[in-house]
Amino acid sequence: MASLNLSAPSSRFVGGGRRPFDRAGASARPSARPVSLPVRAGSYTDELVKTAKTIASPGRGILAIDESNATCGKRLASIGLDNTETNRQAYRQLLLTTPGLGEYISGSILFEETLYQSTTDGKKFVDCLRDENIVPGIKVDKGLVPLPGSNNESWCQGLDGLASRSAEYYKQGARFAKWRTVVSIPCGPSALAVKEAAWGLARYASISQDNGLVPIVEPEILLDGDHPIERTLEVAEKVWSEVFFYLAENNVVFEGILLKPSMVTPGAEHKVKASPETIAEYTLKMLNRRVPPAVPGIMFLSGGQSEVEATLNLNAMNQTPNPWHVSFSYARALQNTVLKTWQGLPENVKAAQTALLVRAKANSIAQLGRYSAEGESEEAKTGMFQRGYTY
Ligand code: 13P
Repeated sequence: MASLNLSAPSSRFVGGGRRPFDRAGASARPSARPVSLPVRAGSYTDELVKTAKTIASPGRGILAIDESNATCGKRLASIGLDNTETNRQAYRQLLLTTPGLGEYISGSILFEETLYQSTTDGKKFVDCLRDENIVPGIKVDKGLVPLPGSNNESWCQGLDGLASRSAEYYKQGARFAKWRTVVSIPCGPSALAVKEAAWGLARYASISQDNGLVPIVEPEILLDGDHPIERTLEVAEKVWSEVFFYLAENNVVFEGILLKPSMVTPGAEHKVKASPETIAEYTLKMLNRRVPPAVPGIMFLSGGQSEVEATLNLNAMNQTPNPWHVSFSYARALQNTVLKTWQGLPENVKAAQTALLVRAKANSIAQLGRYSAEGESEEAKTGMFQRGYTY
């Protein structure tokens, strides 16, 4: 376990070298107190770093299928199916048993029900994933509720009991976790909402690492609003600076986390649409200003963009080398066509799995910066944006 030394000697001074208040004559005073840099190296550190690197491997990204039962119900309703456990299992089985998925997908985020579920033939879903060399992950937050004292904003619940839940999820086979909180630009965002989002993410990240789960850190900046891209950049910089401030304060090991940011785009109702090149320019500017290179992977959410938009934007971000693996962790932008192809019919399962592979492969190519949208279907160009989307 000891190969990676992430701990700093406790006698090192912040900034190193001469202390800021040293003056000739005063520097000899023996009573000056050293400031230690405690960087936690817990029992899982090596494993966390390895898991994060496996997920952030070239040409692969994350398939997010961690919709809560209520949100999964909305997906099923869109194709006329009832929100029953059997229908949710059938849908997740279609996705998780797609042959060859592991070529493009390195991790999959599951909802708790799916983590403990099996296929209709009795094979655990986590084993289906492992057989494809896909790391199983788990959504651990308990959803959003109104934040009193804010400007109609929300905060994310789930810290109570998180340590014991995480230990259980690890035993069940999960190796990474996800916590999604949101920030709304039209609502402010208020300083209170940003601080709460950042602090919650940092506490969650620390608890996850303590229990062997790589935390995906996801402060989603919602697409809602008619603001220009510059405003999104400003808010994203503010949010990520607070997130990293509190991650550091909670001694989170940066080499053992993954980020799930929103892309920096204009608000969904803004009059001018931005090109993939502009979105890439603003998003990378923000990330370069705020994210240390120690972080292994940036796994974008799709946020209601169409499948093709999300893939084109990812591709644009991979035209120049980045300090981190820049990839995808899409839910809507991987599932839209699959769901419509399936329609809940057993005879459509194969075609729906093929549709999933088409999207996964397109994003894999975009991760490598070599995607072109030629030949994409009209369906894949249709967005799934909804105001105030919950998960
Ligand atoms: P999309 O925005 O890609 O639908 O996913 C959000 C998410 O957090 C899924 O885990």
